[in-house]
Amino acid sequence: MAEDLIIATGSKAEQYQALIPQVKALIEGERDLVANLANIAAALKEQFGWFWVGFYIVKDTELVVGPFQGPVACTRIRKGRGVCGAAWEKAQTIIIPDVGQFPGHIACSSLSKSEIVVPVIRNNIVVGVLDVDSNAYNQFDTTDRQYLEQIVALIQW
Ligand code: SME
Repeated sequence: MAEDLIIATGSKAEQYQALIPQVKALIEGERDLVANLANIAAALKEQFGWFWVGFYIVKDTELVVGPFQGPVACTRIRKGRGVCGAAWEKAQTIIIPDVGQFPGHIACSSLSKSEIVVPVIRNNIVVGVLDVDSNAYNQFDTTDRQYLEQIVALIQW
């Protein structure tokens, strides 16, 4: 696969629709999890320019930060803590329009204003989460949920 990402314009849905086949091509045939998570985080960052995009990986009783794009972040998050820990505990995508209104939000950066966290579920167990943060309020909706869930479903975890 060519290593250049073609950046799409148009609606958010159109951007995801152009990105998803490229993500598929990037990770198919590669079994290394870190390599694939790194390229997915980079592709999402390149297309959407979000403030922070990356993965946390379940290790024993905590989430541990994995491949990401953006400023340095909290290394470990306990189950139920913050938006990431809540998405892990509930095994559900969580959308936070204003992180200031979410009790227990873990502020890795005060610049983060809205957030979506998508759990990666394999054999009914959450194995990690995809976390995306924006420096603007109200940036994530059900369109993001739909397509980000499609993207994490592509990962051979
Ligand atoms: N805000 C997240 C922590 C991770 S950072 O944003 C990268 C949370 O509340 O779980």
